Amino acid sequence: MLKTENVSCGLFNERIAKRYDEASKAMFDRSALEPAVDILCELAGNGRALEFAIGTGRVALPLHARGVDVHGIELSQPMVDQLRAKDGGQQMPVTIGDMATTHIDGTFNLVFLVYNTISNLVTQDEQVQCFCNAADHLESGGYFVVEDTIPSLHKLPAGESFCAFDVPPSWI
Ligand SMILES: C[S@@+](CC[C@H](N)C(=O)[O-])C[C@H]1O[C@@H](n2cnc3c(N)ncnc32)[C@H](O)[C@@H]1O
Repeated sequence: MLKTENVSCGLFNERIAKRYDEASKAMFDRSALEPAVDILCELAGNGRALEFAIGTGRVALPLHARGVDVHGIELSQPMVDQLRAKDGGQQMPVTIGDMATTHIDGTFNLVFLVYNTISNLVTQDEQVQCFCNAADHLESGGYFVVEDTIPSLHKLPAGESFCAFDVPPSWI
């Protein structure tokens, strides 16, 4: 099932999508993935789960393999094309749209947004909208899990408010 809205794919165009799994290899490693899937599986319980920004299915597919009914919302059609090319990816219900505003039918025990993807929403208003959208999809007592890095602000020298970091050439 794939519902398509007229939205752009944002940063994750076809070129990036094709390289995504390889470029994010460490995040596909069992040591990174299994603890996350364990927690999400426990929180989903016997209910359904909705991944905001499902991408190529890095987390959704192993979670589904554990017996959880997983749905997704994703802005980038090229990322979903990569998901569709994987075992189990063809049948996964994914709606193309913005996770801050896209509504899908039904309610979920668990909504999750991992791998720092909340920061793809670059204004506080959009992030608040995203939390409201998660709440709209949750059953009473359900969970919204957000995984994000905590910037090392304590490493900044006094008076500095940013520090430069390296971006792999493959992402430029
Ligand atoms: C770092 S990837 C994470 C993908 C997947 N969740 C994972 O853990 O591998 C970020 C994803 O967020 C999607 N994305 C960015 N902004 C979005 C938005 N506003 N709504 C839905 N998806 C979005 C991108 O297209 C991309 O697939």
